[in-house]
Amino acid sequence: MASDEGGSEATERGGNLNRREVLILGANAGTGLVAAVVPMARYLSPIPSGAEEEAARIPADSLALWQAERILVRGSPGFVVRTPDEIYACSAVCPHLGCVVKWNRSRRIFFCPCHGARFAPDGRVLGGPAPAPLTRFGVATIHGKISVEHS
Ligand code: FES
Repeated sequence: MASDEGGSEATERGGNLNRREVLILGANAGTGLVAAVVPMARYLSPIPSGAEEEAARIPADSLALWQAERILVRGSPGFVVRTPDEIYACSAVCPHLGCVVKWNRSRRIFFCPCHGARFAPDGRVLGGPAPAPLTRFGVATIHGKISVEHS
């Protein structure tokens, strides 16, 4: 008998708690949904116009011989570098473990500060642990400005 009363009271309290729990769960689910959907939508969205413009905004005559200019391609760091023969663009993300490479103008190489990989201006591996070249991007000069395309 006492257990019936306790059970009834617990059910009554449980009913109140369940409503609160439902509200709390609903609020948490809404927050969780927003937290999950917003980054996914940003990841799946087209190239941000700012990054695209940044890559395309480099006046071709402002890039000196053996100068490398930092760019963003789809939000990822890269470089545009002028050599005597060609203008190259490649990712700055090292294919070894993902560090950002740096340009050494006097040695005319990209080097990775993490484990010492070295790359030619066109992204070829010159030494170190990198298993692959830097990802190359397409380059075109349009109306005097360098345009970089992710292939
Ligand atoms: S991350 Fe670049 S050499 Fe290891």
